[in-house]
Amino acid sequence: MRLLLHYPYWRQRLRNRIARGLRHYIYAIGLWSAWAIVSIILLDLFGQNGLFISMILFGGIALASLVYLAQWLRIVVLRDRQWEEGAKRETEHLIHEFVSPRRPLPPWNDYMASAELMRCLWQLIHEERPTHVMELGSGLSTVVMAYALEACGNGSVTSLDDHAGYAARTRSQLREHGLDEYAKVVLTRFSRLELDCGVPFWYALPDLCAEPPIDLLFIDGPMRDYHPRIRYPALPILQEYLADNAIVVVDDCHKIDNSYVLQDWLAEFPGLQIENEDGFPRFTVLRFSRSPLNAGDDVP
Ligand SMILES: C[S@@+](CC[C@H](N)C(=O)[O-])C[C@H]1O[C@@H](n2cnc3c(N)ncnc32)[C@H](O)[C@@H]1O
Repeated sequence: MRLLLHYPYWRQRLRNRIARGLRHYIYAIGLWSAWAIVSIILLDLFGQNGLFISMILFGGIALASLVYLAQWLRIVVLRDRQWEEGAKRETEHLIHEFVSPRRPLPPWNDYMASAELMRCLWQLIHEERPTHVMELGSGLSTVVMAYALEACGNGSVTSLDDHAGYAARTRSQLREHGLDEYAKVVLTRFSRLELDCGVPFWYALPDLCAEPPIDLLFIDGPMRDYHPRIRYPALPILQEYLADNAIVVVDDCHKIDNSYVLQDWLAEFPGLQIENEDGFPRFTVLRFSRSPLNAGDDVP
């Protein structure tokens, strides 16, 4: 049943990827169609000479296509790999400036929060001393936050993850680092969403009524591949579990769909304020206050 619930979202993800790939095919078909039409006209106007010009055009377009392909390979494959290696080393170095792990941390990759964001989470935990941290999307950030809570001697993280493999990986990292007491990963599949917001599904939340209110919410999932506005339901759904003056940290705000989601939240929740106005554009720190009245609260 869980697998069945998951199926349509993989289809949606695949559809997004195919749509992106198709754009390139459409450009190529357009270009070669234009060449064919121009060749027919040239042949009609100049006979043999037209054929010669058309062959030169053919060579030119083929050469340009090859250069484009080579550029794409260089940028996407080689430079990306070089960039990733550099970013990985730099980020791991920066993270070790504030965390002193008992064992080597899992290697960083681009899916994970940046070093600046990890540092911000580390500082927020030290300043705000949250009792209950909730994270959407587990990974290295879960381990870093668990270390921060351990250093403060109080609180724990509940991290929701829709992917069994990544949930298990984060769980085993927490175990290796002896941080089980400070963090737990809950495998949370998607379920249909009743909320009228254009997003058809979201995490099937575990029962949070018995948990303490959420003092710090870190939104880093689900992945945008599932739906451009997949992160929108986080606030409308979790607002009732947030403590007054809770901190909400949102990653990937530089991505256009997420920036629209952020703008919608700010318009819909008057008690939501941006805390890091001149901070990093990739992530945003918000303060959630219950007064003034938030949209969605019952009006007496
Ligand atoms: C943006 S990632 C969460 C990253 C995490 N908060 C961190 O900073 O380490 C969102 C989702 O991607 C998946 N994920 C985690 N690590 C991944 C990786 N290395 N590669 C691909 N997907 C990953 C997980 O299912 C996770 O819920």
